[in-house]
Amino acid sequence: MDAENRLRVSRPKLMSFRLNGRLISTQIEEDRWTLWDLLRWKLHLTGTKNACDRGECGACTVLVDQIPILSCMMLARRARGKEVMTVEGLSQGGSLHPLQESFMQQVGLQCGFCTPGILMVAKVLLDKNPHPTRDEVKRAVAGNLCRCGAYSGILNSILAAGSSGRRESAKHEPAEGF
Ligand code: FES
Ligand code: FES
Repeated sequence: MDAENRLRVSRPKLMSFRLNGRLISTQIEEDRWTLWDLLRWKLHLTGTKNACDRGECGACTVLVDQIPILSCMMLARRARGKEVMTVEGLSQGGSLHPLQESFMQQVGLQCGFCTPGILMVAKVLLDKNPHPTRDEVKRAVAGNLCRCGAYSGILNSILAAGSSGRRESAKHEPAEGF
């Protein structure tokens, strides 16, 4: 669906929810809008990517009530009253999140298209388990495809963001898939 079709007005609906810590009210222009549509076309948050639009790649992952959700598969209206966090909400007070710092230091990306979704999944993992093993990280991000094949750097970046990971990431294992 192109941008023009996504923006075509049918039955606008007002909706409130918390977005990156702020209570907002906004309008859903079409019943069929997904949460990704709302974030991109109405709220102009372009950090969350859409690489398949069919729930297969994880690029569009955001947190809804602290749970990773594929925003291309969730109707926008279902976010009413919920707490949504996108990649734009990771940095605080002008400082990058430790995961973002780590992805830069460990070169955890190539084109970066998969990165926002992976960061959100990794945040949930590290919030629950600050010192995951390599296998635990692999399992956590198994639903996120990296079309550039930057898997080794991604794993190292997530491991390095946890204090125990700093040691494990030093191994810099060869390139691998999840
Ligand atoms: S864009 Fe949503 S899963 Fe691929
Ligand atoms: S860095 Fe390009 S898709 Fe992952």
